[in-house]
Amino acid sequence: MNHFLAAADLTEAEIRHLLRASHLFLNRLKPGQTLPLLKGKTVVNLFFENSTRTRTSFELAVRRLEGSTLSFASSTSSVQKGETLIDTAKNLQAMGPHCIVVRHSSAGSPVTLSRVLNLSIVNAGDGFHEHPTQGLLDAFTIQEKLGDIRGKKILILGDIAHSRVARSNIHILKKLGASITVCGPPSLLPPQSKSLEVDFCYRPEQALSEVDVVIALRIQMERQNGMQIPSLSEYAKIWGLTKSRAQLLKKNAIILHPGPVNRGIEIDPEVADDEPRSVILDQVHNGVLVRMAVLAELCNPEGLAQWMAKEGTSSHAH
Ligand code: CP
Repeated sequence: MNHFLAAADLTEAEIRHLLRASHLFLNRLKPGQTLPLLKGKTVVNLFFENSTRTRTSFELAVRRLEGSTLSFASSTSSVQKGETLIDTAKNLQAMGPHCIVVRHSSAGSPVTLSRVLNLSIVNAGDGFHEHPTQGLLDAFTIQEKLGDIRGKKILILGDIAHSRVARSNIHILKKLGASITVCGPPSLLPPQSKSLEVDFCYRPEQALSEVDVVIALRIQMERQNGMQIPSLSEYAKIWGLTKSRAQLLKKNAIILHPGPVNRGIEIDPEVADDEPRSVILDQVHNGVLVRMAVLAELCNPEGLAQWMAKEGTSSHAH
């Protein structure tokens, strides 16, 4: 892999390799222990949209691999004077980093950068399009909690149309053999549902008792034009993952949410906080591990393969 741009581009073997690396990081590294897989390398976090989880977990991932990070915030940069995305990225490239992690509101901007720059690009979320490391960390969280994803039934609930997380989840989880149902208001289901080869329903009650996993999505007010849902309270009433709806789930079913959570809208606070059934904070923890795997695979694949071979065959491997 030269870049990590979209879950749609990943093969099942590539996904399984990254999940295996993440699993070894989880089980073989002690808290705070570092590995020199990015020693001497610099990763730029180029974020044009706000982020709590993704940006900080990429920073921590680089530090745990003994690399250096350089964080860029568009709000305090020369973007405010009119500099373009491409000029900004080319100027950062001129300072000699090895990889750029980019988040941007324009779908396709990471692909554009991958064509004009000579370093690795990681997509940290581009518009409605994809958020592939989120898809990977969700798959990793499900696998760690429930075992092999093949045959698992997964419900993605909420604002599917505006969700880059849903798209990346669908691509990754389907390649791992899950069956996916998407559920939400008809106005928030994507027009390409058929090409995504997922089932869909319009009421959560139609699916909740059948599934192993529910991924509740944030309602993305910033990407709507205000016309798709009558009101947030009506949305919460019909599609929210309320306490009574969560009671329909099987005993061992788990609940994911990519964050940030709109408490009381797409998910009730009691449901979001209902650990261990809610694995929302496990997702955040796992985000560091899968981002370590992605960065190591891009910047030092031989080093990662050697470490995995050593750790994966030793008697302590899980
Ligand atoms: N899940 C996610 O992308 O969260 P942030 O926007 O906080 O990075």
